[in-house]
Amino acid sequence: MPSQFGAVQLAHEFLSLNVRPGDICIDCTAGRGNDTAFLCSLVGETGSVLAFDIQPQAIESTKELIRQKGYESIAKIYLDGHENIDRYAEEGTVSAIVFNFGWLPGGDHTLNTKSETSIAAIEKGLRLLKADGVMSLSIYYGRDTGTKERDDILEYIANLPVGEYTVIVGSFVNRPNCPPISVRIYKGK
Ligand SMILES: C[S@@+](CC[C@H](N)C(=O)[O-])C[C@H]1O[C@@H](n2cnc3c(N)ncnc32)[C@H](O)[C@@H]1O
Repeated sequence: MPSQFGAVQLAHEFLSLNVRPGDICIDCTAGRGNDTAFLCSLVGETGSVLAFDIQPQAIESTKELIRQKGYESIAKIYLDGHENIDRYAEEGTVSAIVFNFGWLPGGDHTLNTKSETSIAAIEKGLRLLKADGVMSLSIYYGRDTGTKERDDILEYIANLPVGEYTVIVGSFVNRPNCPPISVRIYKGK
């Protein structure tokens, strides 16, 4: 395993194991579109991927990547907050939901994700997941932002009902400088 194996690789490995062609998936933090494109590669032409971001710049980046990769018929990209995802998908229909908390790479740090909307979106996302669906959270924090959001999310997921969800939290414990936290949530049947 390479020494810089990171949260993105962990999330993609987890998604690869749990997403099938034809599935419906959601990228709650589209950013530059890397997770949206990866999900499109997993669900294929018979599936669909909904992607959300609040920044027009992120939406444009994601649309451009999706266009370059030829995934326009798979991805639906929305300029809207992930706290509104329940307006776009039916409960119990989604196979995988991805969050990448933090700020847009190369963008404005003040437009980072925030506890209140992040937790509202996780809660709604868990309802949208089908039985056996999964949620991936990559929590980036440090420098000037994200510590409160990290703590609030970790507290929220630690209190999810044990009979309904399996929650696994991974930390890069031998890395300095606030490495990301990688979370896997499995919804039970
Ligand atoms: C760490 S970046 C995502 C990186 C992305 N996965 C990629 O591949 O580039 C976090 C993104 O969340 C977005 N964001 C912040 N608050 C949001 C909200 N309420 N709903 C949706 N997106 C939000 C930011 O604009 C930013 O683009």
